[in-house]
This record gives sequence, C-alpha cells and structure tokens, in this order.
Amino acid sequence: MTITDIQAQKGMRKITMLTAYDYPTALAVDRARVDMVLVGDSVANVVLGLDSTRGMTMDQMVYHAQAVRRAVKEALVIGDMPYEAYQKDASQSVKNARRFVEEAGCDAVKLEWFDQAVAVSKEIIRAGIPVMGHVGLTPQTAKDFKVQGKNASAARLIIESAMALESAGCFCVLMECVPDRLAALITNRLRIPTIGIGAGPECDGQVLVTHDLLGLFDRRTPKFVLQYEALLDCMVGAFRRFKGDVEEGRFPDKEHSYGMSEEELRKLEEG
Ligand code: KIV
Repeated sequence: MTITDIQAQKGMRKITMLTAYDYPTALAVDRARVDMVLVGDSVANVVLGLDSTRGMTMDQMVYHAQAVRRAVKEALVIGDMPYEAYQKDASQSVKNARRFVEEAGCDAVKLEWFDQAVAVSKEIIRAGIPVMGHVGLTPQTAKDFKVQGKNASAARLIIESAMALESAGCFCVLMECVPDRLAALITNRLRIPTIGIGAGPECDGQVLVTHDLLGLFDRRTPKFVLQYEALLDCMVGAFRRFKGDVEEGRFPDKEHSYGMSEEELRKLEEG
C-alpha cells in the first residue's frame, strides 16, 4: 500500500484502518489485508489503562511503532503524533514526525486538529512526510467526549478544518464522532479520502480501535463501536483452565516435558 493507492480508492471501494501497538496484533491486521495500521495514542487507554492519551511520549510511541513495523508487510503504517510531539511545542513537530519515519519506518503520521494544525501539517509535508489530519472529536484536547458538530456553526468549523487540512496537503482526513450527514457532506467536498470513526457510513473508509473490536477493553466503549469478539472473556477462560490444570496436576504432562535417558540419570545420581 502506498499513499497513492489509498487515495485512488476514493469513490472506488471502502478503505479500512485498524489500530495496532504490538507485533502479533499488527501481524493479524496485515494478514487480514486491512489497508492501514494506525499506531494510535489510544494505546494509552486500551493497553496502558490510562484515562487520557495526553501523557503519551514520543519515545513510547516510537517503541510501539517499531514493533508494528516488524510485522507489517503490506499495509500503510501510520504513527500517531502524541500531544507532546507537536501541540506542546509546534517547533518540534518536524523532528518528531521524522522519528516515526527514521526510527520506526512509518509511512505517514497522523495529527489532531488544533489552532496550529495547518501550519504544522504543511511543515511536516514539506519535510517529505505524508500527514493524515484528524477532526471532530480530538481526544488529546477534548473537554467533553461527545458528538461534535451537531449544530450548524460547530459543523461549519469542522468543514473548514477538514478543507484547510486538504489545502495544507494532507493525504487523508480522519473524522471522529460527528453526525453522519456532516461526515457525508465533508466526504463529498474533499478530493482526499475521509476515514470515519463514529462518523456514519458515507466516509471513504472506516477505522476502529482494535481492542474495542475484539472486546479486549473492559471499560465503557462508545456507541459507534461494533464488538466482533469477546476476547477478554476468552482470555479469562484460558487463564482459569491453566490455573486449574496446574493446581490439579494435569499440566505439565509427559507431552509437554523434556526427557532424559535412564543411563544419564543413573550417572547423575551416582555422582
Ligand atoms: O489513537 C487512536 O487510536 C485514534 C482513533 C481515532 C482511531 O486516533
């Protein structure tokens, strides 16, 4: 997958993206032929058990992106810029975007809308790194985790942000938690693809947080999540069986143990 391949899908077929933060998950996402893998800062919530994504550091994100890169052969790998990488001090944004590419082999970076998002996107793109914009609900700075752009004036601001990111040269825009009709309108206005999460079916593509999709996250998940599996329950079941097998002497059995010849054992015992 290349940036051009992704862009060519607009109006042709739906684009897919899932999050991954480690090698086995990225391997599975890539084998499923999902188009893009996002090393999202949602790792803070669904893996590290934090309430906010705000505290994620560049070092942590690069560490996760490196593991993902080792697994992915086909999909586009996108590093999610943490708050500290570009919003805390915009002058550091190009240096940090480069870390995703040079240290972790990412193909592109994603950044959330804020008052300097256009300028920062332009700088990163000028440095040769493709950027995915992110509008609507932006978790790094959100005060209320609720649907954005429900009234005309708020919706107009989101349209303007998406259009400004397109003009800045972003290859794609992610829209989070906006009404489906607003997302459809933006999708029709933009030449670049839109990727929705809680943004209805008219977007050019869809993304979900993998841990939500797999039922690995035990906290409240938003209305837009479709949980395809209940893996947390599967894990608890497997761990209970392990505990029972060990406690009751069924594991390890002969099949899962290493043997030693009688002769060597005798030599050993004879000293
Ligand atoms: O960090 C993340 O996982 C995201 C989601 C919106 C996909 O940005």
